[in-house]
Amino acid sequence: MSSSVEHSTECALPRRLRSILCLDDFEPAAKAHLPRPLFGYIAGAAETNASLTSNRRAFDRYRFVPRVMVNIGRRSTATTLLGQPFSAPFGIAPLGLAALTAYRGDLVLAKAAAAAGIPMIMSGSSLIRLEEVAAQYPQAWFQAYLPGEPVAISALVERVRRAGFQTLVITVDTPVAGNRENNVRAGFSTPLRPGFRLAWQGVTHPRWLAGTFAATILGHGMPHFENNYATRGAPILSPTVERDFSDRGQLNWEHFSAIRRQWDGMLIVKGILSAADARLAQEHGANGIIVSNHGGRQLDGAISPLAVLPSILDACPNIPVMIDGGIRRGSDVLKALALGARAAFVGRPFAYAASFAGEAGVGHGIRLLTSEISRNMAMLGVNRLDELDSRMHLMAE
Ligand code: FNR
Repeated sequence: MSSSVEHSTECALPRRLRSILCLDDFEPAAKAHLPRPLFGYIAGAAETNASLTSNRRAFDRYRFVPRVMVNIGRRSTATTLLGQPFSAPFGIAPLGLAALTAYRGDLVLAKAAAAAGIPMIMSGSSLIRLEEVAAQYPQAWFQAYLPGEPVAISALVERVRRAGFQTLVITVDTPVAGNRENNVRAGFSTPLRPGFRLAWQGVTHPRWLAGTFAATILGHGMPHFENNYATRGAPILSPTVERDFSDRGQLNWEHFSAIRRQWDGMLIVKGILSAADARLAQEHGANGIIVSNHGGRQLDGAISPLAVLPSILDACPNIPVMIDGGIRRGSDVLKALALGARAAFVGRPFAYAASFAGEAGVGHGIRLLTSEISRNMAMLGVNRLDELDSRMHLMAE
């Protein structure tokens, strides 16, 4: 990224984004903007937040060893992933309920990613029809939470294919829901139950109430889960607990093999932490892996993705290995890449950015992270991302 690009965007920046200097700055801004249950839904993890905390700490175990006096005038953050060219080696992780926390959230994330030329994974736990997002950003990837029944899986995969997606991501770390007691404390549930507490949260957060909630209901009707199946699911606001998330406890590699036979496009497995599972994913035809503990939202105490990355790369040297969890800085992306990851995905900060400032907010976040990567590449003495090398550029401190 050239410095002229950085300057021109700074000048055009909406006022509310001028104090956002790094991805972490989006969190307090979103906390003030969103009703408490919705902020809690994004920020929260499982039980004691042990994995959430260690996801961040894992990056501190590595320090950079810069190389100096290198001509870095030709440097570029561009990369190629699964045959697709991208402008930067990071993307937007799948974020459920994005259209409840931000107006038309999935489309906002897709538009900002398309404009910047970075990967974006649409969540299957979403309130906007997947066909609309595919039309907005045909290079977006679709993440499925698989239904329990093979017939329903096959119908969903066929719908995703027909919409035009070329990359399908299967999240595999949710055999049951994580224990999100923090959601209960914050008053969050799916479906949201109408009542005085929820109404009060709406009234005391008028920008969200008018700009996201009312605008959605008036313009598009009551949001429903649109993409868990081939057909429409339950509404998001309902007094009855009509959850239609199917039992995923039976799913196994046989189901994955069936998808592999049906799906011609790229097939990615998200939510791997064990080298043995990484090997199984590759043996069953995965084209790539996202090493992830779901941002600490599933098994509390699950190891951090960065800690297991080297062992997963050893197990799967022939397919791209990607990572998410705790990535907030260009330096985090570069550490993951130096260790061998091909790309890094970012979750919470982009959910906050979309809520607080829509497409401009997400675009700003993408530019901040890209410029951190570019600046740090210069100080590390590398022109291309594939010059990063853990033996040369990293050391445990
Ligand atoms: C998620 N995550 C997630 N993962 C997935 O596969 N499908 C999904 O629908 C969701 N939904 C979701 C919603 C919200 C609000 C969050 C914060 C996370 C997990 C996500 O894709 C990713 O793995 C983590 O968010 C990465 O960690 P960081 O970047 O948030 O620390």
